[in-house]
Amino acid sequence: MEIQHEQYRIQGIALTDLAATYGTPLYVYDGEKILQKVSLLQKAFSTVTLRIKFATKALSNINILKLLKKAGTGADAVSIEEVKLCLHVGFQPHEIMYTPNMVSFAEIQQAVDLGVMINIDNIPMLEQFGAYYGGQVPVCIRLNPHILAGGNAKISVGHIDSKFGISILQLKNIHKVVEAYGIQVTGLHVHTGSDILDAEVFLKGAEILFEAAMDFKDLKFLDFGGGFKVAYKPGDIATDILDVGEKVSAAFKDFCQQYGRELEIWFEPGKFLVSESGYLLVRANVVKSTPASTFVGVDSGLNHLIRPMMYDAYHSVVNVSKTEGPEHVYTIVGYICETDTIAADRRLKEVEEGDILAIKNAGAYGFTMSSNYNSRLRPAEVLILDGKARLIRERETFDDILRHQIDVGI
Ligand code: LLP
Repeated sequence: MEIQHEQYRIQGIALTDLAATYGTPLYVYDGEKILQKVSLLQKAFSTVTLRIKFATKALSNINILKLLKKAGTGADAVSIEEVKLCLHVGFQPHEIMYTPNMVSFAEIQQAVDLGVMINIDNIPMLEQFGAYYGGQVPVCIRLNPHILAGGNAKISVGHIDSKFGISILQLKNIHKVVEAYGIQVTGLHVHTGSDILDAEVFLKGAEILFEAAMDFKDLKFLDFGGGFKVAYKPGDIATDILDVGEKVSAAFKDFCQQYGRELEIWFEPGKFLVSESGYLLVRANVVKSTPASTFVGVDSGLNHLIRPMMYDAYHSVVNVSKTEGPEHVYTIVGYICETDTIAADRRLKEVEEGDILAIKNAGAYGFTMSSNYNSRLRPAEVLILDGKARLIRERETFDDILRHQIDVGI
């Protein structure tokens, strides 16, 4: 988003015009930004065979998935519905990694029938898988590397108390099951968490994976998960992807030499690819001063962007209706019947009723984590590509609130 001709614009289109045309609240995605991020990641790992598996859960609109597919990525799906969505938009089964957690064997069987790569994250499931499929269906195994990393406790998933993955301390048990059933393990996977800054964490994960990998003879790829940190706050440092690329690629090449075969390196970024592309445009309904603060109440809330409430996440907010004039400190809150503070104590250009505020970094885990809480409607989504805005999801209507409810005539 840039200020041009005294207006905030994406690819030349004023955000205030988008709000006027499509209404608010509105999710807006900058397609060019997404494509730039894909290119940057490809550049960072250009000396190895990289496969990007976009973390579908971050942003699953079919048009975004198609855009990513066109740019050459695959997809990581965490539910059978995401697998179906990815197939629906044209990803080939072999381009899809299915990384479920705590799902039934029946769901795994459905995914096998759809032909996607299965990432198994617990021993009972590996056992059931082996008993049913033997060595017929290749699998990936998700290891828990026991690395404490990630932006906050809720998104730190590679530590010893995490529900995800099979502990590296249980490698022996894995081998027992693999040998008993002749399971064909073609990939190993780790994902330590989200918002990971340092190359060191990825290297630590890599070392653990390399060590474990030496005892699996049929490997074709190693998957390092996602988790690259993006900048949310002004002054935040993001993962230096070129640095991570250089260091991890060098270590990976050394490993491949030791292993005696060229493997593919897989990553499953969500935030890195789409977070910065997205804006949630909201309208100021009320500017309300109390003895303690000045609140800006907007036509959105935790039902549309839950990250501030769920993770204490920081999202920058800009009053895109004003490019000049005085600034004041405001607390931006939602219209939900909860204390849904979106952003506390922020300096914004003077806000008047009707002004449009843009909440930044709303591309990842924004719309996909939205709900109908308070029986509110979910926003529309717009994608800007080639300098043109396209509506990619209609705003919900009141009928959507009633849909699927059954009036039993009480
Ligand atoms: N791979 C696996 C196995 C994952 O569990 C995740 C995220 C990713 C890849 C993608 O991580 P990313 O590159 O987006 O950091 N809703 C939270 C983030 C939860 C992430 C869950 N797993 C948030 O809004 O911060």
